[in-house]
Amino acid sequence: MTGGAAGRTGTAAGTGPTAPAGTAGTVPEPPGTPGTPTTARSFATEDPFPSSLWADAVYSRRAIPPTLAAGHPAPGTAGAEPDPLPPGPRLPLAPPPLHLAPSPGSPATLADPAVLAALLHYSYGLLQHDLTPGGWPLHRAVASARCRYPSELTLLTPTAAFRFDPLHHQLVLLPGSSGDDRDGGPGTSRYVVITSRFARTARLYGDYAPRLCAQEAGMLLGAVHLVATALGLRTRPGQDRETLHGLCANRLPAMAEHPMGYLEILGPAAPTADRAAWPPPDLASVLRARHSGAALFDPEPVPAPRELLTDLETALAAAPFTGFSCHLLLRRVAGTSPGHYVHGGGRLRQVHADDPLPLLERIGQTEGRVSMNFRSTSCTAYLAVRRGAAVARHGTDAFRRLHLVTGAVAHLLCVVAARHGLSARVHNGYDAASAERLLGAASGEETVLFQVAVGTARPGAAFRIPVVF
Ligand SMILES: Cc1cc2nc3c(=O)[nH]c(=O)nc-3n(C[C@H](O)[C@H](O)[C@H](O)COP(=O)(O)O)c2cc1C
Repeated sequence: MTGGAAGRTGTAAGTGPTAPAGTAGTVPEPPGTPGTPTTARSFATEDPFPSSLWADAVYSRRAIPPTLAAGHPAPGTAGAEPDPLPPGPRLPLAPPPLHLAPSPGSPATLADPAVLAALLHYSYGLLQHDLTPGGWPLHRAVASARCRYPSELTLLTPTAAFRFDPLHHQLVLLPGSSGDDRDGGPGTSRYVVITSRFARTARLYGDYAPRLCAQEAGMLLGAVHLVATALGLRTRPGQDRETLHGLCANRLPAMAEHPMGYLEILGPAAPTADRAAWPPPDLASVLRARHSGAALFDPEPVPAPRELLTDLETALAAAPFTGFSCHLLLRRVAGTSPGHYVHGGGRLRQVHADDPLPLLERIGQTEGRVSMNFRSTSCTAYLAVRRGAAVARHGTDAFRRLHLVTGAVAHLLCVVAARHGLSARVHNGYDAASAERLLGAASGEETVLFQVAVGTARPGAAFRIPVVF
């Protein structure tokens, strides 16, 4: 379990030189306001993903401030946390059900308090409390770098916005919502919108924050899509910037948050005679058990069950977006020869049969050091996208879009691992150029955006208990 002191992730995060001030979506404090938290400007006027981010936060980690190693605030950011939730009327949510499944005979709808509560809780709710002294106490349904949780989840009806407060398992009616719509309530929501408070993550990670925030927004989108599907709700995940900004305009705290992605709620899914293989029927307990492993990822060197791969194949085929490739460097899975596998058409196919350890130890490095114990992992996934084509088409917005695509897949990998009692660690300690070269990606075109290692967790010092609302 992740229970070490805040500085432990520093082994992965590194201590590279700081990027020039104000390069990557965070805004230097205005003169004369010492202590003011760093905040992003209005999303309408500022590009949160300048093109320098590819070089500074994906191909190198220049954007990470040296203070991260000690877990101290990044230069230019204030120590105090901003209030994450605006004041407003609060709506308690129903207790989340223990299982996630469409209720037989009644079409799934957010108007059902149990469905509403389940969707929010199992997508982004507070699921575990880690009591280890000096650890990060609060863990949610989706992983987050050093548990900063910069993403925010908001339900939108035509005239009201309801912000999810995971800590209290409540919704907060955001200012500007009309009285009429409160009568309709959150059960009439048509969209789920994901925004990101870069400042939360920037407080530790400085100008590296937009990269982590983009990754985490994608993971959250994947989580909402997965849980909605399990509940029998059809959603259409969206990347389109104009739609996104249209949804957020005048309705969300634009000064502090960046719009990242959305899902349109289409209504109940058509009933099917056969139960689909994915999402799994035990999803709720899987999500309650999901975790990222110990502070230093050093799993037991025992083989993962073969079903891990079957589930991976099915889950990735059900990802909310296409346009990614998944390379799996596999070392220890029962009945499966080690090697380099690539996922395509719902299948994993072997492209090299050698032990991938030398590749893993060259790719998975942080400033010259191997980032985790790849010698005892079961397998490690690398998620790649066609950056060149996306940048040509979408300009700087390609950064957000591509992280949405891959983030959703990264969350699925974490869930599949949890289903088999394994921990999955999203770890940014990898060298993107080496990954590109050694995995045979198209040079200058394809980029690896996620590294996710999977292994059998050793019993650790951390003590996590489930949170019940
Ligand atoms: C986008 C992202 C990047 C991460 N990068 C690192 C990393 O570089 N090194 C590391 O040790 N852990 C990394 N983590 C793991 C988080 O610290 C971990 O998910 C967090 O402690 C929450 O733990 P939990 O998932 O068990 O709740 C990363 C997680 C995310 C989501």
